[in-house]
Amino acid sequence: MTFKISNKVAWVGKIDWEIRDYHGKEYSTHKGTSYNSYLVRDEKTVLIDTVWQPFGKEFVSNLKKEIDLNKIDYIIANHSEVDHSGALPELMREIPNTPIYCTKNGAKFLKAHYHKNWNFIEVKTGDTLDLGENKLVFLEARMLHWPDSMFTYLTGENILFSNDAFGQHYASELMYNDKVDNAELYQESIKYYANILTPFNPLVVKKIDEILSMNLPLEMICPSHGIIWRNNPLQIADKYLEWAKNYKENQVTIIYDTMWNATRTMAEAISNGIKEVNKDVTIKIYNSSNNDKNDIVTEVFKSKMVLVGSSTINKGVLSSTAAILEMIKGLGFKGKKGAAFGSYGWSGESVKLITEELKKAGFETINDGIREMWNPDDDAIVRCKDFGKSVGEIIGYTIQ
Ligand code: FEO
Repeated sequence: MTFKISNKVAWVGKIDWEIRDYHGKEYSTHKGTSYNSYLVRDEKTVLIDTVWQPFGKEFVSNLKKEIDLNKIDYIIANHSEVDHSGALPELMREIPNTPIYCTKNGAKFLKAHYHKNWNFIEVKTGDTLDLGENKLVFLEARMLHWPDSMFTYLTGENILFSNDAFGQHYASELMYNDKVDNAELYQESIKYYANILTPFNPLVVKKIDEILSMNLPLEMICPSHGIIWRNNPLQIADKYLEWAKNYKENQVTIIYDTMWNATRTMAEAISNGIKEVNKDVTIKIYNSSNNDKNDIVTEVFKSKMVLVGSSTINKGVLSSTAAILEMIKGLGFKGKKGAAFGSYGWSGESVKLITEELKKAGFETINDGIREMWNPDDDAIVRCKDFGKSVGEIIGYTIQ
C-alpha cells in the first residue's frame, strides 16, 4: 500500500498491525505500529527513511511499483535505529551509489549497524538540499531520542518529517489525526512520550522553541510512527511542551507486588485513606507483576505522587518491584513525590530499599514509608489508612 499525502509526497511505509513488543520487550505496542517512509517527487526524487528489516523485501518490492528505483536521487536517513533503517541493505543492493543524507552520528551509527561504506553525506542544522522547485532543510535533533536524530523540512509542501518525535505506536489505515479516535491517539502519544522522551525533557523544550521561532509554514507533521498530524499539526508540539515541563495531573499512582495479599491489602487501605481526605484526586492502583510496565510508567508520568509497595523476600524486594523501579529510575522523572510500603515476616528490608530507590530515581520521599508484619490486622489497617490520609493531605496542598 502506498498513498499520496500531498502534491509531491507519497507515504510508502508499512503498517505493522501485529507487533506487540518493541525494543526487545522494553516497550509494549498494544495497538501495533507503522514504519513511515515518504517519497518526495520534485525535479529530484527523495526517499525519507525506510522500514524495519523484516519488511525490507516487501518495502523495496512495493517501492518498485511506485517508482523506478534508479530514479531516486537521494535518501534521507533521519535516524539510524533499525526500525527506520532496516530496509537500507535491501534497497542499497539495488541502488548502491545513491547518496544517504544524515547527521555525522547517523553515518557513524549506520556504518556500525550495517558495516557498509555507503555514500554518506553528513548534514548539519540549516543545511539544505535543492530539489528543483522546493528544497529540504535539515534540523539536527540530537537526543530526540538518539544522538543521531534529525528532522527534515520540505518547503513548498510545508511538511516537517520529524522521525520518532511526535510519533505513536499506533497502527491505523486512517493515517491522519483528524480521522482516528483522538482518545486512542493521545493515549499512544503520551505513552510514547512518557516511556521514550521523558529523560530528554529540556531538549524537547529547546528544540520545539527553536522550530517555533523559525515561523515555518506548516501543513503537516509527518512522524516515522503512527498517524500524520495535519489538522492543527502544532497541537502535538504544544502538548510536547506541556509534557516536557515535568508534567503532572492531580493523580497518585500506587504500584505494588504481593505474595499472599498482605501488601495488596495495605495498598487498598492506603488508597481508602487518601480518598477519605482528598475526594478530587485520581488514584490508580497497579500490581506490577501482572500489569504492563509501560502503561504503569505512563501513569507515573501523570502523577504527583507515586507509592511503591512490596513484600520483603530474601532481604530484598519482589522482582517486579525491582524491575519497575529500575525503569522509573532510568527515565529521570522530576518534581514528583513518593513513598514506600510493604508487609514482611521477619527481616523486613523492602520498605527501606524502595525508599532508597525512589530517592535515587529523583523522587522527594515524604517519609520513611510504612511496613506491617504478616497479614495486616484491624490496627494495621488503621495505620495504613492514616498513612493514606497523610498522603492525601500532602497531595492536596501540592501545587501543580
Ligand atoms: Fe522509531 Fe528510535 O526508532
